[in-house]
Amino acid sequence: MTGSRTENWQELLAKAAQAAEHAHAPYSSLRVGAAILTSGGTVYSGCNIENAAFGATLCAERSALAAMVSTEGSDALIRAIAVWCSDKRPCYPCGICRQALLPWCEKTAVLVVENADGSPETLSFASLLPYPFTDS
Ligand code: THU
Repeated sequence: MTGSRTENWQELLAKAAQAAEHAHAPYSSLRVGAAILTSGGTVYSGCNIENAAFGATLCAERSALAAMVSTEGSDALIRAIAVWCSDKRPCYPCGICRQALLPWCEKTAVLVVENADGSPETLSFASLLPYPFTDS
């Protein structure tokens, strides 16, 4: 992934959509993919992984987060995260994922979702989680 702050969000969304191809979603049939762009320019992706014990289900965003931290360690930082889901509505991260991603987000981190017309919509991650709980 190359480019400046005016990134090619379509490309990051495409990686999220690609990850959704691996979704394990026999219960909801909703395939979700996430692609994290790090400060260093690497992309990590993940998909949702459902379980018969519903509470054990892993969202795509936390799946991508696990890939990033497992590979780069906890110093990695998120510049942007794109989320794509199969029913074509914009897929905003659930509350647990917002909280889980927070410690790794740059202050200016961006969420990218796909609008109904297929174009990328961007939001600041900070706007998704006001008054966050942190350890400091
Ligand atoms: N899901 C995600 O992967 N990310 C979200 O932010 C919202 C929900 C998944 C979990 C479950 O497999 C399916 O979507 C339906 O809730």
